Amino acid sequence: MHDFRTLARILEERGELYRIETPVDPRFEMPALMEQIDGERRAYLFENVKGARFPVVGGLLNRLECYGWALGTTPGEPFGQADLDARIEAAKLNGIPPREVASGPVKEVIRRGDDINLHDLPVPTYFELDSGPFITAAVGVARNPTTGKLNVGFYRTLILGNRLMAVNASSLSDLRRFYQAAEAKGESMPIALAIGVSPALLMAASCKLPPDHPEMDLAGGLHGSAMELVKCETSDLMVPANAEMIIEGRVDFSRKIENVLGEFAGQYGPETAPVTEVTAITHRRDAMFYTILAGRNPEHNTVGAIATYGVQRALVNTVRAQFPQIKAMNVFLEPKLGAMLHAVVAIDKKSDDEPRELIKAIFAAAGGFFPVSRITKRIIVVDTDIDVNDFQDVEWAVWSRVADAAKFMVIPDVESWELERCAKEGKGSLRIGIDATMDIEDREKLKRPIIPGATNVRLADYLKKPARRSAA
Ligand SMILES: Cc1cc2nc3c(=O)[nH]c(=O)nc-3n(C[C@H](O)[C@H](O)[C@H](O)COP(=O)(O)O)c2cc1C
Repeated sequence: MHDFRTLARILEERGELYRIETPVDPRFEMPALMEQIDGERRAYLFENVKGARFPVVGGLLNRLECYGWALGTTPGEPFGQADLDARIEAAKLNGIPPREVASGPVKEVIRRGDDINLHDLPVPTYFELDSGPFITAAVGVARNPTTGKLNVGFYRTLILGNRLMAVNASSLSDLRRFYQAAEAKGESMPIALAIGVSPALLMAASCKLPPDHPEMDLAGGLHGSAMELVKCETSDLMVPANAEMIIEGRVDFSRKIENVLGEFAGQYGPETAPVTEVTAITHRRDAMFYTILAGRNPEHNTVGAIATYGVQRALVNTVRAQFPQIKAMNVFLEPKLGAMLHAVVAIDKKSDDEPRELIKAIFAAAGGFFPVSRITKRIIVVDTDIDVNDFQDVEWAVWSRVADAAKFMVIPDVESWELERCAKEGKGSLRIGIDATMDIEDREKLKRPIIPGATNVRLADYLKKPARRSAA
């Protein structure tokens, strides 16, 4: 698999990267350009960011094809979500543990003390109401304080001063649990942010793995060789030796700060994070700063889809294990539907009450990382002739098979997770259940028109030569 710099170079060679020499302001001006470029699914390199020492690169992974290119496919070779999922699943089974090395390019420049200034970095301020500049594409490295194991993830980080920042850990993250454990012991803890790392590590960091399942091994498996790690200057954390830059720090739980950033689902998200004091910055001599446009935007959403995929899979596996009557199940978790999950289950019902009973039982069930009700906004039950993977087919069933109002269930005041920003404090939010199955008495009347035997008839067997459309 290609490394970070090679992927940027490949994109430029293929005409997929805009190089911008005109000086840009990292506050709003650069994000406005990033939005246009990301919208075109192209990458960018801002050579000249006002007030900063480093250029900015981004948009490297804003469409699935780019993941394929990072993994070694060539232009035109199809590479879709199923291919990416398959590569990740294979790498989980064939992880390669990291390898410790004495030094690496990220140690070319070492800054400590007064030589540290976060304002030297070209960190964008994205949206009107954001609390300030946010590092969005850093891979955060920390140790589980209980087991000592290394853990990585993406954690948005607010710049607070020359040497102060706040690394946000959501309730879903392992990092949040490490924070809680360290705080309970009354200790500070080391953390490091790795900026501009191998695409394999970017993918692995986004993955939601069970606790203590090493993301570094997964990154090695995806990359096809061990991640090379080097020791931090001011802690025992191990960080990627060929990163563009490492920010080392110590998290101090005596100071916490509430902060706001526009999030992946298209709303502002308040978080509270402890303050981290930066203890060292190491970087390549010609380091590039990597950034991902926050908000509901292509690169954030495609990298984020790797994180949400784990949550979806965990929920499907847990629910199916509890309800064997489910013949097919899919969970939609897409920014275009908001931050909440929409679950669809297909059953071969034996009574008209069964779907609603099932909806209640699923909402009450465990869902892998969280209880189903906390993260699932809607459960739809369909007949087995509906394709649970095809959202349009599911919607068709909802609007074509439901006449009785009792088949729409509105469940009030359910405890929600933090990403449902409309949920009310202390009251939660509504949940929806829809029984989109045909009433048993309607099964003949509502049958879908099909051509008998159609699946056994192959057009190719009837054509002497393949038909070719004219260009006009
Ligand atoms: C661009 C991007 C930004 C993210 N920002 C955060 C964040 O601010 N806080 C957080 O907890 N998770 C964030 N996530 C999701 C986590 O990286 C993801 O859940 C990861 O698996 C967490 O790792 P952990 O559970 O090992 O701590 C972000 C993901 C992406 C792709």
